[in-house]
Amino acid sequence: MIGSPTSAARRPGDAAAPYPAPGGATPLPPRPLLEVSGLAVHFPIRQGLFFSRQTGTIRAVDGVSFTIDRGETLGLVGESGCGKSTTVRALVRLLRPTAGSIRFDGVELTRLEGDALRELRRRFQMIFQDPYSSLDPRLTVEAIVAEPLEAHGVGTARERAARVAELLDAVGLPPAVAERYPHEFSGGQRQRIGVARALALQPELVAADEPVSALDVSIQAQIVNLLKQLQQRFHLTYLFVAHDLAVVRHMSDRVAVMYLGRIVELARAEELYRAPLHPYTVALLSAAPVPDPLIEARRRRIILSGEVPSPAAPPPGCRFHTRCWLRERLGRPEACETVDPAVRSVLDGHLVACHFAEQVGASAEQRRATGGGNEDAGWTDGGIGQTKGEAENPRSRGGRD
Ligand SMILES: Nc1ncnc2c1ncn2[C@@H]1O[C@H](COP(=O)(O)OP(=O)(O)O)[C@@H](O)[C@H]1O
Ligand code: SF4
Ligand SMILES: [Mg+2]
Repeated sequence: MIGSPTSAARRPGDAAAPYPAPGGATPLPPRPLLEVSGLAVHFPIRQGLFFSRQTGTIRAVDGVSFTIDRGETLGLVGESGCGKSTTVRALVRLLRPTAGSIRFDGVELTRLEGDALRELRRRFQMIFQDPYSSLDPRLTVEAIVAEPLEAHGVGTARERAARVAELLDAVGLPPAVAERYPHEFSGGQRQRIGVARALALQPELVAADEPVSALDVSIQAQIVNLLKQLQQRFHLTYLFVAHDLAVVRHMSDRVAVMYLGRIVELARAEELYRAPLHPYTVALLSAAPVPDPLIEARRRRIILSGEVPSPAAPPPGCRFHTRCWLRERLGRPEACETVDPAVRSVLDGHLVACHFAEQVGASAEQRRATGGGNEDAGWTDGGIGQTKGEAENPRSRGGRD
């Protein structure tokens, strides 16, 4: 069985296990599976052919903090270049963080090396955006899906072949595809192969970096639904990255919005879509398609002025101030240009980094972006083909925060 435990490592079924309580006191709440704090990834800018010297720093990720509970899906969304992929690559240690802490099941990842890192890596895997380039064209599907098993010395050749057949079945592919090559498949089928490979080692956390962005809209729905089914079946925890708020809504329990290397808003999904509190989120929402024509007719798009600034020279004060509609509305308050807004909790567990978030809550822009404060504002199906009932996530925990 693919979902059966293979080691003494703590499995997702232990999700409810609380922290050990010192001295028999009331148990503390369950520890999040992933705890990210102050994560930064900076890339040096070098110039000169022979004696290259550092002339600047790209602050791709610049102080990002969030947690993901077991069995939860956190959506991570933001425009291209805001640091989503760099965040994911640092989490799975494809990149070494410049600063910050990443705790996976209580273990600090940033300091792990060698065998210890390799062993822990079995428990978190990645699904890539581009199903065309992420599969080696010279290998059969069987070799691709079995590769992580081989790399970790799991099973005999016969056992691995049986496991590949199980995994292919789990992602909705017939056993015969095992002998074929990636170029023989469509984008959606290739992404299924990528998902099978990611699940080969029975991971607990799967970081999916724009897994449906390269696919047709009709295929996106199939892959999103597959990921949801697999989450239920194998008790997976997801970090689901997209640049499209509609796609993340359908998948996520909570959503984090990134801008220029920072998280600017983080809230339960239904809350974020009903009442976004950061001016950037409001603008993103206003631009995302809503399938309900009545709600669509009530909405107004906010066009953000200017280009996204370079992460090599983020604006002082609030990083969003060069494009912020609320700042203009408020008559350009000085604080926007001089004081970097801390992430603060507004309402119950709704995090936002804006000095004037309370003004967003009362704004016409928020009402127009969400479709007039309608209870679900047409967002429940995320535009990708689910009915309202199906779109409700059974693991959404009302009042959890
Ligand atoms: N290896 C790298 N070297 C230098 N700059 C990089 C590197 N990887 C990403 N960047 C830069 O970091 C920023 C964030 O990139 P990325 O994380 O890929 O954004 P996203 O996934 O949100 O589109 C971009 O400005 C990108 O050009
Ligand atoms: S702090 Fe000022 S510039 Fe930044 S998002 Fe809020 S209103 Fe806009
Ligand atoms: Mg990316």
